[in-house]
Amino acid sequence: MAAFNELVFSGVQPTGNLHLGNYLGAIKRFVEMQERDAQCLYCVVDLHAITLWQDPQALRGQIREVTAAFLAAGIDPKRSIVFNQSQVPQHAELAWIFNCVARLGWLNRMTQFKDKAGKDRENASIGLYDYPVLMAADILAYRATHVPVGEDQKQHLELTRDIAQKFNNDFGPSIQAHGHGEQFFPITEPLIGGPAARVMSLRDGTKKMSKSDPSEYSRIALTDDADAIAQKVRKAKTDPEALPSEVEGLKGRPEADNLVGIFAALRGITREEVLKDFGGAQFSSFKPALVDLAVETLAPINAEMKRLVADPAHIDAVLADGAGRAEAIAAPTLDAVKDIVGFVRRGPALRAV
Ligand code: TYM
Repeated sequence: MAAFNELVFSGVQPTGNLHLGNYLGAIKRFVEMQERDAQCLYCVVDLHAITLWQDPQALRGQIREVTAAFLAAGIDPKRSIVFNQSQVPQHAELAWIFNCVARLGWLNRMTQFKDKAGKDRENASIGLYDYPVLMAADILAYRATHVPVGEDQKQHLELTRDIAQKFNNDFGPSIQAHGHGEQFFPITEPLIGGPAARVMSLRDGTKKMSKSDPSEYSRIALTDDADAIAQKVRKAKTDPEALPSEVEGLKGRPEADNLVGIFAALRGITREEVLKDFGGAQFSSFKPALVDLAVETLAPINAEMKRLVADPAHIDAVLADGAGRAEAIAAPTLDAVKDIVGFVRRGPALRAV
C-alpha cells in the first residue's frame, strides 16, 4: 500500500449567488482545514461552471467573486493554494484519461445530472454529463486524501473513489513497475458533516438552499448586507410550535431543524447545545438571536469581499500565483499517469520499459 501525505482539495463553482450553504457547508470548513496545518488547495472550478452556459463577462466577475469569498472568509493564499481550474491544464487532461476509466453505467446513476438536465436531457451538454469525471480529475491530479464538501457532493465523491480504485486495479502491474507501490491514487475521504452539511431553503425546509432557486428569499447571499440578512431571516418559514429542548423534537419540523442547524454552524456548536439555550423559546425570540449571529459573522466577510472585488488585479495575481503552485504538484502526477498508461512523452527517461 502506498502511503499518501494528507492533502486537502475542494472546489466551488463560479456561477453567482454564493450563499450561506456554500459558506457553512464548504468555505468555513476549508478555513478550518487550513488552520489544522494541512496542505490545502482551493479551486474556483470555472471549467465546471461552463457545463451550463455562462455569460463570459459575468463569468470573469464570478471567478473573482468566489476568490474574494475564499480570502474574505479567512483562506490565506500563502498557506493554502488558491487558483482557478482553467489555468491548470492537467485537470482537463486527466479528465480525458478518466473518461476512459469511468463506466457509462456509473455516470447514468448520477442524480445531480438528472436534476440539472431536467426533462430536456437530449439538450444537456456533454460536459454536464461528464461533470463528475472532471471532479475526480480535480481531486486526483493532486492525489488529494481529504475533500471537505456539503452533502450534495457525496455521490460525486463516491464516483471519485470508484475511478481511483479502477485505475489502480486496471494498471496495477504498470503502477508497480514504475515504482509507485500498489496504489497510484489514494481512495479519497469525503469530509461531510457538522450541523450545516445540508443547509435548506429558507422558504421550504425540504429543499436545499441553492444558487438557482428563483426566490432571493430562499437563501442568504454572501453579498447580502445586514438589512437583507435580517429581512430574510425574519421572513423565513417556520411552524407555530416553540423550539423543542431535545434534537429528537426537530424530527418532522424541517424549517425549525434548518434554522437551528444554521445557528449551530454559525456559532460552531451542535444542535443539542443550541437547544439547551433555546428549548421552549418561540421563533419570535429565536429569530432575532439568529439575525444578530448571522450579521455578526457575515458582515465582516461581506465588507472584505467588497474591498477585494474592487481590486481585480490583486485577485488575478493571487490566482496566477496559486495556479503556478498547483501546476507544480499536478504536472508530475500527470507525467506519472502517462508513463503508467503507456504513453510516450517528452521528459526524463522512464523507469519501466
Ligand atoms: P458548488 O459550487 O455547487 O458548491 C460549493 C460547495 O458548497 C456546498 N453546498 C452546500 N453545503 C451545504 N448546504 C447547501 N445548501 C449547499 N449548497 C452547496 C457544496 O456541497 C460544495 O461543497 N461539484 C462541486 C464543485 C467541485 C468540487 C470539485 C468540489 C468541482 N470539483 C472537487 C470538491 C472537489 C460543486 O458544484 O460545488
